[in-house]
Amino acid sequence: MLDERYRAYLRWTIYQIYPRSFMDSNGDGIGDLKGIISKLDYLQELGINALWICPCYQSPNDDNGYDISDYESIMAEFGTMEDMERLIGEIHRRGMKIIMDFVPNHTSTKHPWFQESRKGKDNPYSDFYFWFDEKPNNWQAAFRGSAWEWDEMRGQYYLHSFTVSQADLNYENPDVVKAMQHVVDFWREKGVDGFRIDVIDLISKDFSKKRDDFGPRLHEFIRELIGREPFFTVGESDVHDIGEMVRHCAANRHELSTLFVFDHLECGRADKFTPKKDSLKFLRDCLIRWQQETAEHDLLYTLFSDNHDQPPLISRIADDAKLRYESATDLAAMLYLLKGVPFIYQGQEIGMTSAHLDSIDDFDDVESINAYHDFCRTMPEEEALGKVDFGSRDNARHPMCWDDTEGAGFTTGTPWISLHPRYREINVKSDRKADKSVWRFYQSLLSLRRNNETFLDGDFDVISSVDDPYFIYTRAWKDEKWVIVCNFETEQEISVPFDCEAPALTNLKRTSMSGVYAPYECAIAMVSD
Ligand code: GLC
Ligand code: CA
Repeated sequence: MLDERYRAYLRWTIYQIYPRSFMDSNGDGIGDLKGIISKLDYLQELGINALWICPCYQSPNDDNGYDISDYESIMAEFGTMEDMERLIGEIHRRGMKIIMDFVPNHTSTKHPWFQESRKGKDNPYSDFYFWFDEKPNNWQAAFRGSAWEWDEMRGQYYLHSFTVSQADLNYENPDVVKAMQHVVDFWREKGVDGFRIDVIDLISKDFSKKRDDFGPRLHEFIRELIGREPFFTVGESDVHDIGEMVRHCAANRHELSTLFVFDHLECGRADKFTPKKDSLKFLRDCLIRWQQETAEHDLLYTLFSDNHDQPPLISRIADDAKLRYESATDLAAMLYLLKGVPFIYQGQEIGMTSAHLDSIDDFDDVESINAYHDFCRTMPEEEALGKVDFGSRDNARHPMCWDDTEGAGFTTGTPWISLHPRYREINVKSDRKADKSVWRFYQSLLSLRRNNETFLDGDFDVISSVDDPYFIYTRAWKDEKWVIVCNFETEQEISVPFDCEAPALTNLKRTSMSGVYAPYECAIAMVSD
């Protein structure tokens, strides 16, 4: 049985906000906190009761806020601490929760700790980071190039797992643990309900290992940082194995409540920048495996397909052109009626797609730009651009499309990054009015889920077999059972081995559960006994 506390988290429906691109309230082209406040009613109407807000702390923005120069103040472009307090208050007033992004692995090199640290070996911050006379290994940074950078002032190398301006903190130093505990307590006192924790697998290192993750003191550091009292935490970690997840998330470990498992997102690509043809079967089989294994070990699982680092899944494994509505809704039914905590990324509720840009100048993301220059060394520019266009994180970072006016309803000014090229077609206003509305489907789906204990705590079972080009699963609780049918890419006859009530929700108005299904058609019904 899932731990009591974890069962409560199943009731959270979390919406991820990338503040820079969500809603601009003052016309400077940059999304901000007041903009978020203005959309809380909208989110509530959709059926959201918790928000995860990507970093909104003071930052030079080399990695859009993941390079923090002060954890306890707000990025001026986003507003003030008062705006933040108002946002927390407005969220709580609506009975919703707020989860902040916590970035413990690295600070910006502009952070005063680093500025002090680089001054020499005998200041109080000297050991806040990793300094070496010689590179101790040849670790590579996630955003390309060596993970070691020479610092003139200090006359030593420091470690940066991401850009050169994101220096890794040294948790072997108890003062670092204390400083970061202070950050956690600061935000808890402000009233936040949980944390999404950035690259948590990196906070302990073993320099003799091939890679910079899962160091020997990882679990100890996690407990020191966040295990002091129960609190919702979801870690970003490179976990692919249930045993590893148990070590992080079993209730008696007092570490993370859950973590994002990324295995299912590997569908539709050979690597981050290389497409590969895949069927929804890949996604299904991955999800089944994790549903079964997390149930077996009483772990809380996260249900998500998109985030600020991932091009929309719909563009990788479904039809984001002709059957965009069907694809978006079918994917939602495949995912969000499983057991776990749903995370919906901004724009997903209207079936937002990858952007497709035709010049490298239109990209902003540091990872994409570095990758492009790297690719150009071995291939023609056009091919390099194609790869970046496919895999770029910017695909998820274009401003939220609220309507089809000049600034897409996001801004009255010039947006900090180009508007999505399809914003006149795909936007909240048009979608909500459309005959085939992704938004209304999400709203119905979330309401179905929220209002039936079966979809929260009920057991998962898979009915279709491994060779079937579709997915049938059930959720059962006490004497109630629901069946969910999601067809894949091709039209076919599907027969459901239960007597069912009329479908409670479908994406194409079908009236019975068995029969011919159109591509990406889905239906959900209660099983009659
Ligand atoms: C995580 C974030 C990503 C960021 C990186 C470094 O992967 O999701 O956006 O660039 O960590 O902080
Ligand atoms: Ca603004």
